[in-house]
Amino acid sequence: MKRIVTVGFLMMSFFAFSQQNKIDQKVNALLKKMTIEEKIGQLNQYTGDNQATGPITINPNKETEIKQGLIGSMLNVLGTKYTRQYQELAMQSRLKIPLLFGQDVVHGYKTTFPIPLAEAASWDLEAMELSARIAAVEASASGIHWTFAPMVDISRDPRWGRVMEGAGEDTYLGSKIAYARVKGFQGMLGDVNSVMACVKHFAAYGAAVGGRDYNSVDMSERMLWETYLPPFKSALDAGAATFMNSFNDLNGIPATANKYLQRDILKGKWNFQGFVVSDWGSIGEMVAHGYVKDNKEAALAAITAGSDMDMESNAYRYHLAELVKENKVPIALIDDAVKRILRKKFKLGLFDDPYKYCDPEREQAALNNPEHRKAAREIAAKSIVLLKNENTILPLSKEIKTVAFIGPMVKEHKENMGFWAVELPGLDYEKQVVSQWEGLKNKVGSNTKLLYAKGCETTGDSKEGFAEAIAIANQADVVILSIGENWNMSGEAKSRSNIHLPGVQEELVKAIQATGKPVVVLINAGRPLVFNEIANTVPAILYTWWLGTEAGNAIADVLFGDYNPSGKLPMTFPREEGQIPVYYNHFSTGRPAPDENATNYVSAYIDLKNSPRFTFGHGLSYTTFDYSELKLSKSKIKSNEKIEVSVAITNTGKYEGTEIVQLYLRDKVGSIIRPIIELKDFQKVHLKVGETKTIQFIIDNQKLSFYNNKLEFGSEPGDFDLMIGSSSSDIRLKDSFELL
Ligand code: GLC
Repeated sequence: MKRIVTVGFLMMSFFAFSQQNKIDQKVNALLKKMTIEEKIGQLNQYTGDNQATGPITINPNKETEIKQGLIGSMLNVLGTKYTRQYQELAMQSRLKIPLLFGQDVVHGYKTTFPIPLAEAASWDLEAMELSARIAAVEASASGIHWTFAPMVDISRDPRWGRVMEGAGEDTYLGSKIAYARVKGFQGMLGDVNSVMACVKHFAAYGAAVGGRDYNSVDMSERMLWETYLPPFKSALDAGAATFMNSFNDLNGIPATANKYLQRDILKGKWNFQGFVVSDWGSIGEMVAHGYVKDNKEAALAAITAGSDMDMESNAYRYHLAELVKENKVPIALIDDAVKRILRKKFKLGLFDDPYKYCDPEREQAALNNPEHRKAAREIAAKSIVLLKNENTILPLSKEIKTVAFIGPMVKEHKENMGFWAVELPGLDYEKQVVSQWEGLKNKVGSNTKLLYAKGCETTGDSKEGFAEAIAIANQADVVILSIGENWNMSGEAKSRSNIHLPGVQEELVKAIQATGKPVVVLINAGRPLVFNEIANTVPAILYTWWLGTEAGNAIADVLFGDYNPSGKLPMTFPREEGQIPVYYNHFSTGRPAPDENATNYVSAYIDLKNSPRFTFGHGLSYTTFDYSELKLSKSKIKSNEKIEVSVAITNTGKYEGTEIVQLYLRDKVGSIIRPIIELKDFQKVHLKVGETKTIQFIIDNQKLSFYNNKLEFGSEPGDFDLMIGSSSSDIRLKDSFELL
């Protein structure tokens, strides 16, 4: 058997190599025919008119320049009709080099999936791969070749609005998710149902000082390698076709001109063969950074550092040819960038058929496939996190007589899409998105009476709606409140210094609670929010993020127990903004706080509990799980050996459910101090009532390794604690072992 696999693998590798060889020959032949202007044209990307995702520079000559071969790619052009129109212009150019169409298909195209941070809360790698796969099917059917996703920026700061777009604070979870999303988007790249992925933002954008978007990033190389780079490497290992650099400077050098990042690491050490696109205008913005004096110098710095394609700053368009003539930019650099881009155009089959992705019938079918909404509903339910459920208010009985559904989010449609939803022209959100109200109506029977009141807006201080809300609450058996921040309070350029619930929503909750009715609160947000009063007093809280097209149905599935919530937080929730940055895998310090109230001569605040509000990995279920029989195959291992870990999980409650079993390690002593706890593996296990399953993990040297102060990745002998838990703060079983 092994021989067959080996032969098969060798055959596949030979086929791939020969395919690549053929493409290289075609690229080299085409390059020889190209003028310098046509070469630079391939490095130039302009936006279309569908969705402004950055400061627009109107270019009235776009169409002419496409016909002259001076533009190689467009973004924000939606639909086969429009992509075909632009592609027809490109086919009028001298060499008929097809355009690449890119789009921010971040969490779905027409079928909108939960925002990536919500999906990350599902910890369901297969579901996230499927979500990306469906997004790719819909986007590719609409003429898109390339998505600017996955965003893999680790972030430990919920003030940063773009946490909604990533996978949270943990490097291990983020790396696994990055891999799954690239696999989902790209499938078999070149297949008509696939799009190129674009891993972003390279690099460390999520560590912006103060959580303020576009702000500087200052960190040690060791921290960069240990915490922020691994998800990028994981995405590359998954075969990512492209990377996007980031707006921030890293230690004083803008990422766009950061040779260390783009040439030494990405194209050098990691041998990346794809191409790097700048972020929107990031090349030209180096003037504002104070790194270069003008766009010409920006072009020189960027191309030298390895930025292959210029999104929207016109630096390459207007200055590269001159820089080549002045012998400041070797033509070899231009040729390398052009070849990287042309290789992908050949790989996608665009030279064979520039209209391959422009089939209106396929578009119609793909954008109206009910299976896509079904998948969106399933992952949405899996993304919901049950933060609290005292007195088991949840799940609600389907025999319940009267439910009051109150709050500014109850009847909203577009809000549920979250930031980075593709705004398809003419899309009727009322028809496209299932509101939370509609979801509830779809769920309950005719014997259940639903009452509604908005109560208040998300912003402003008007309490005029309180009286009506209180009145219907008094008529109900249970009150569900749906509150949160607006969809556009998180996302790009949406940093918040105050991440409390906006407006008078907390007061609305308090007023409803004063009725004495059982209260369930749904919190809709693109980031962790601060809601201490609610967290302290409301018995049942579901974190519903932004769940996309099927939000209402997914929320109803969870409220009534048709899906037993299994989500776990991918980010720590602070008690106050003053606690930020707060994350689970922190160092001990020399004076660790023994408990959450300690303040005297320990590393803690004197005015705030030391623990976060909700910890990384937290999430409850309607059932309960017992952990037992933790076994390690060895208590001592050498670095070339492994430990097999097994643990039994039993469903000891009344509902079938899924538990995300988390394996954490602590390296007790290291040449670089090690975090008090680090996620090193996890498994989702589904259990019927009373069922027990034994699950296995493997501890290998990779899991014991870290970057030392020479940037060498490896393990060091010593003692390790092993912890198995339902969250990073709910450790159920412990053991230890020694690395010899
Ligand atoms: C934006 C974002 C980037 C996006 C690009 C194109 O500014 O930073 O993530 O892919 O521009 O919309």
